[in-house]
Amino acid sequence: VTIYVPRDAAALALGAEKVAEAVTQEIAARGIDAKIVRNGSRGMFWLEPLVEVEVSGKRIGYGPVKAKDVAALFDVGFASGDDHALCLGEVEGLPFLKEQTRLTFARCGIVDPLSLEDYEAHGGLAGLHRAVAMPPADVVKEVTDSGLRGRGGAGFPTGIKWKTVLDAAGDRKYIVCNADEGDSGTFADRMIMEGDPFVLIEGMAIAGLATRATKGFIYIRSEYPHAIATMTEAVEIARRACILGASVLDSGRAFDIEVRTGAGAYVCGEETSLLNSLEGKRGVVRAKPPLPAHKGLFGCPTVINNVISLASVPIILDKGSAFYRDFGMGRSRGTIPLQIAGNVKHGGLYETAFGLSLGDIVDKIGGGTATGRPVKAVQVGGPLGAYFPRALFDTPFDYESFAAKDGLIGHAGIVVFDDTADMLKQARFAMEFCAVESCGKCTPCRIGSTRGVETADKIARGIEPEKNRALLADLCNTMKFGSLCALGGFTPYPVMSAMTHFPDDFAPVPFIEA
Ligand code: NAI
Ligand code: SF4
Repeated sequence: VTIYVPRDAAALALGAEKVAEAVTQEIAARGIDAKIVRNGSRGMFWLEPLVEVEVSGKRIGYGPVKAKDVAALFDVGFASGDDHALCLGEVEGLPFLKEQTRLTFARCGIVDPLSLEDYEAHGGLAGLHRAVAMPPADVVKEVTDSGLRGRGGAGFPTGIKWKTVLDAAGDRKYIVCNADEGDSGTFADRMIMEGDPFVLIEGMAIAGLATRATKGFIYIRSEYPHAIATMTEAVEIARRACILGASVLDSGRAFDIEVRTGAGAYVCGEETSLLNSLEGKRGVVRAKPPLPAHKGLFGCPTVINNVISLASVPIILDKGSAFYRDFGMGRSRGTIPLQIAGNVKHGGLYETAFGLSLGDIVDKIGGGTATGRPVKAVQVGGPLGAYFPRALFDTPFDYESFAAKDGLIGHAGIVVFDDTADMLKQARFAMEFCAVESCGKCTPCRIGSTRGVETADKIARGIEPEKNRALLADLCNTMKFGSLCALGGFTPYPVMSAMTHFPDDFAPVPFIEA
């Protein structure tokens, strides 16, 4: 019998470690022939810690399990535990999982994250084996043809970025993985690093072969200690197995990876700031051009991709570009791991082809709010993303459709708010966040955000609301067009969307002087 207890940070935060200890004790006390596997998360956070028992090839789930429940679960024999209140039946059959299209997250929550054997048994390394036998330009073409776009948020075609680096002159080139997942309500990067780290390693190795880069860095935010530990261990295992090193899979071509830790600045998720930080400098944004693809890390041509972009590459190389491109809508091809968070009943990770409506994501998949109150707003794309009201719930989830509604899908974080949310407070929060996290390089962001907080406060206090609303809109316009990077440039999205869609929250009672 194999018993799976997740080691994912979300499950640990909900008590998975204590559950694992209790399971170990019960196995020893009862003298049962069973082993424990510490898997990643399946992404159904309301069920975590989700314990699974594998019997006759089927995995039966129990959740959310507390340490005190464990003895009773053993009493009912786990496998025949349908009568136990926590039994969920076969995990693969749960609607939240069954209706997904898991390409990038195919193994997450299923395998032992640090078992290469498990990884290969579930299709791992097939993409890399194919890539080592191909000329670099063909690998780049495969990725270009797949239609894969940057999953960090900007949606730039990954293949074109790789081609720029492949074509750039230079003996030394780098692959940098941006794992500084700073957006509110996002956890896809963390989940894959903790639940299936080899898929990221494989994707980076393919990127290295495709662009003739021999060195890669994974820049992980310091707030992710479990991801840092898992990735570090996985890199060592991959080195020992010659997946990384002087001769990748005995191809004679070198590629190695180093894991680096950030120091906790949101702006270091911006690619040029991240490069500065990697170089040991202060995390300040660089002007573009030059693009990192031309002049990136230490002045060398550099691919910077988000974790999910890179982790999506192995399946493209394995199954071919046409397979991947077949999913999705319009120019948004393939699948996207939606991260459903905030005030929502069923929060978690849901990988699906582009094109589901926002309403279906929030109401059907997410199950509406956790409080049971009506949904008022949904912020999509992190703290710099727009707030969508119910009236826009028919918007399909793809890059262009969201842009057409003055929003962005960003890193696909979806944060739900019920009708008690005060959108003026949310707009103020966006400005405050920008003021705190600004790198300080340009004026509209550095000073504009502070003026934005003050102006929002004036509106809240009823001081010349009409004039101050106009001032806030004008300030947003200046920040949008006058900022160097997305932090200052995108802060207007939450502010303006809150003001446009929820005008009542911006018209409080007039201020009366005492
Ligand atoms: P961008 O549009 O400037 O660039 C996108 C990417 O394409 C960059 O890597 C850039 O170097 C590359 N690129 C652009 N033109 C190129 C060319 N001709 N050849 C080769 N490469 C080229 O966007 P930026 O500023 O890098 O990112 C903004 C996005 O970041 C926003 O859309 C936002 O959603 C997202 N974001 C994500 C966060 C997260 O936690 N994942 C946090 C904050 C923002
Ligand atoms: Fe720095 Fe803000 Fe300017 Fe970006 S917009 S470069 S974070 S000051």
